Amino acid sequence: MVGDGNLARVRVGLIGLGRMGQIHAAALASRCPSVDLVCVVDADEARAAAVAARHGVAWSTDPDHVFDDPTIVAAAIATPTATHADLVRRAARAGKHVFCEKPVSLDRSATLGALEAAAAAGIKVQIGFHRRFDPDWVAVHERILAGELGQPYLFRTSLRDMRAPPVEFLAGSGGFFLDVTIHDLDVARWLVGEVVQVSAHGASVSGPAFAAAGDLDTAVVVLHFENGALGVIDGSRCAGYGYECSTEIMGSAATARVDNPRARNYEWRTPGWAAYELPRDFEQRYPTAYALELEAFAAAVRDDTPPRVTGLDGLAAFDLATAADLSWRRGVPVRLRPVRDPDGVRYEVDVTAGS
Ligand SMILES: NC(=O)c1ccc[n+]([C@@H]2O[C@H](COP(=O)([O-])OP(=O)(O)OC[C@H]3O[C@@H](n4cnc5c(N)ncnc54)[C@H](O)[C@@H]3O)[C@@H](O)[C@H]2O)c1
Repeated sequence: MVGDGNLARVRVGLIGLGRMGQIHAAALASRCPSVDLVCVVDADEARAAAVAARHGVAWSTDPDHVFDDPTIVAAAIATPTATHADLVRRAARAGKHVFCEKPVSLDRSATLGALEAAAAAGIKVQIGFHRRFDPDWVAVHERILAGELGQPYLFRTSLRDMRAPPVEFLAGSGGFFLDVTIHDLDVARWLVGEVVQVSAHGASVSGPAFAAAGDLDTAVVVLHFENGALGVIDGSRCAGYGYECSTEIMGSAATARVDNPRARNYEWRTPGWAAYELPRDFEQRYPTAYALELEAFAAAVRDDTPPRVTGLDGLAAFDLATAADLSWRRGVPVRLRPVRDPDGVRYEVDVTAGS
């Protein structure tokens, strides 16, 4: 593997420069002290050249530009989900560590294949569950770990987009649970514990487009945790009023709440009213978390420590999301069995539920 050991800054190539990739480009170029962004890649030549010019780095339309460069140590992947597994495999073959956006694939065996190729090559894989790096969520996690919440009773998250992403994106997204709820399912495991049952309900309320595509724009997922706690996740593609990502965990000793912060710290007051600006999207809500997740990835590569969100975490969240999808489609609860092995937790999903 190239370049391991005593690296001051980790040389990274970024592949995929759409909505998420451009956020990562800005973070890698100027907000991650352990990163040296070397080049950016996008299939769209004009986009690659424009993002490269913005950050003063090299560009290409070919991911091999990253994989064939012996001075590049790690790849960050933010291309459409359907391309991730192949790119992870190619990174593994080239001995590059990988930061990969969620989910690794829409297909379980492709996910497993990519993770096995990475493990065999000895590269690190970190999945883009950015909330695990947001200072507010991290503070709550640390206090829960320290025992300050006591026994968890109830977990609640809301993840609501102000407006739906472009139709072309939706077509390859894997559907609501794999694309959106997967973040909440990851934090459910992280903050409360493993899940043994998922019941999902969905609706397409904003117009006919979602139902026509076999997808949904509004969902409620009920979780039963192994430790006895209950959870409820609500999600929307069409909240209208703004972007919301909030949580609450009620426990025997305390209740933790991460509310949706304001976009700006001022209010506008008029007789009888106070108004403040809400975040409009994930870019506005989470710039710090997106930078910190990439900084943590680079630090893990540089220091040869395990990433804080592993490929197996990505697989576990994928399994929970596919269980939610199955539950919604079949109209029944789906049971899961978390199996612990030395590397982490793997889920066995009762795919016969409701069949
Ligand atoms: N963590 C988060 O909060 C978050 C938010 C949004 C999207 N995502 C994830 O990020 C990924 C990208 O989503 P997006 O919304 O940025 O998509 P997008 O469609 O806006 O951008 C994808 C980009 O990849 C380029 N591309 C496509 N195939 C390529 C290839 N083979 N090689 C190089 N470039 C290629 C496209 O030209 C485009 O610029 C998805 O997996 C999505 O699930 C994560």
